[in-house]
Amino acid sequence: MLRPTALIALLAFSATAQSTRPRVHIIATGGTIASTNYYSGSAGHVGVEALLRAVPQLDSIATISGQQFANIASSAMTPANWLQLSRAISDTLARRPDLAGIVVTHGTDTMEETAYFLDLTVKDPRPIVVTGAMRPSDGIGIDGPANLYNAVRVAGASSARERGAMILLNDEIFAARDATKSNAVRPDAFSAPYRGDLGLAEPEGIVFHRPPSRRGVFDLANLRDLPRVDVSYSYAGADGTDIDAFVAAGAKGIVVAATGRGSMTPAQRQAVTHAMEKGVIVLVGTRTGSGTVPVGEGVRGTSSTPSTIGTGDLNPQKARILLMLALTRTSDRREIAKIFQANQ
Ligand code: SIN
Repeated sequence: MLRPTALIALLAFSATAQSTRPRVHIIATGGTIASTNYYSGSAGHVGVEALLRAVPQLDSIATISGQQFANIASSAMTPANWLQLSRAISDTLARRPDLAGIVVTHGTDTMEETAYFLDLTVKDPRPIVVTGAMRPSDGIGIDGPANLYNAVRVAGASSARERGAMILLNDEIFAARDATKSNAVRPDAFSAPYRGDLGLAEPEGIVFHRPPSRRGVFDLANLRDLPRVDVSYSYAGADGTDIDAFVAAGAKGIVVAATGRGSMTPAQRQAVTHAMEKGVIVLVGTRTGSGTVPVGEGVRGTSSTPSTIGTGDLNPQKARILLMLALTRTSDRREIAKIFQANQ
């Protein structure tokens, strides 16, 4: 779908008296921020030039360059797109030592997934700020321009370095690892239920509540694609049919979005045991939206079946991404548990 040559149309934007302002590169991928007409699903109508034209105030805070990577709803994002986007960002940062940071505009539905993938794979200390909008570009009281403006402020701030990828909406800054979309409609759609926000884009300046902390990143060199990892949702009466189907489809890993602190139905447990017997790595997280399934206490095994691995406080969709990347390094259960421990 996304041919690199078609995607990477570099656009240069002029600005006056540019020298003292931070240089920020904006990579547009689509989403509601680039859509028109509420709820019509018409993502992809507004290009990066128009996004920038809608925020003339950007010219007073940064020197901007822009790039149209894609113009799609974020529900159409794929792991192949993540690889392309991560590489495009790493290449741009390597080519442009003058840049203070990167802003990615993106649909909010899977924003947390793309942002976490970038967090785990872009090594550069400069910030990547992922933003979007809950209201389309032609709506009333639109949030896109303010979000873009604040994202550029954060990307240009020296205090944002060494923090990896972040999500900014509604003046709130979240670590990509911690953030989740927790409201389907409101402009304050994101939260970090377990760890709280990272900071705020206040009128007076960018405020961070905690010092930077970064974990190691995964090297994408020589990686052509990512292993298949699926998510199984647990609910009363779940019979494990999906787990069997994922294994049959070639899944190398499965994350169970379990009820409570890692519990699942007896039938799911049986399906998980069969999956593990076939060498599939199974992780157990929680569907509750907050709290932990400790890494060492997924579901305890027996003398003949190994234990699953808990996801810690990573939600199932984030644990899936970490597991996909972990499986590019090792398929050893204990090593994968160590990777999850190191990413708590
Ligand atoms: C999308 O994720 O592409 C649509 C929803 C949004 O951007 O808020």
